[in-house]
Amino acid sequence: MRSLLPLLMAALVAVTAFPDGADAVWTPIANPPGTLLVKQVGNFTVIVYSNAAPRRHRPLQLVTVVRGETQPVGNGVTDYRLVLAVNNTDTGSTAMYQCVVRGKPGSRATTWVLRSFALYTQAA
Ligand SMILES: *[C@@H]1O[C@H](CO)[C@@H](O)[C@H](O)[C@H]1NC(C)=O
Ligand SMILES: *[C@@H]1O[C@H](CO)[C@@H](O)[C@H](O)[C@H]1NC(C)=O
Repeated sequence: MRSLLPLLMAALVAVTAFPDGADAVWTPIANPPGTLLVKQVGNFTVIVYSNAAPRRHRPLQLVTVVRGETQPVGNGVTDYRLVLAVNNTDTGSTAMYQCVVRGKPGSRATTWVLRSFALYTQAA
C-alpha cells in the first residue's frame, strides 16, 4: 500500500496541472448577452438540462448568458462554454451554471449536444 502513494500523488499533480485538457484553447465571446446564437445555445442547454431527469422536471429558466467562450473542434463544429444565470421559477432564486455545448452554427443537420452542465462556483 505504502508504495502506491507516490504514484497517486503524481497522478493528482497531473490532473491539477491540466484541468481542461492540455489542448484546450478557448476564445472569449465578445458580447454574450447581445448575441442571438449564444442566447439560443444558452436557452437550449437550460431546456435540455431541465428535462434531463425522467419524471423530475427542473423548474429552470435562462435569465442571461453572463460569459462565453468557444473552441473549434473541427469540421465547423464548435464547443461553447457558457456561464449562465439561471432562475429557479419555483423559488425565484437565481444561480450561476457553467455548461459546455457542442454544435455546428447554421446547420440543422448536426445535432447539438449538451456535454456538461453544473453549478458554477468560481468567483465571477
Ligand atoms: C429563451 O427562450 C424563451 C422561449 O422561447 C424566451 O421567451 C426567452 O426570452 C429566451 N431567453 C433568452 C435569455 O433569450
Ligand atoms: C424567476 O421566475 C419567477 C417565476 O416565474 C419570476 O417571477 C421572476 O421574475 C424570475 N426572476 C428572474 C430574475 O427572471
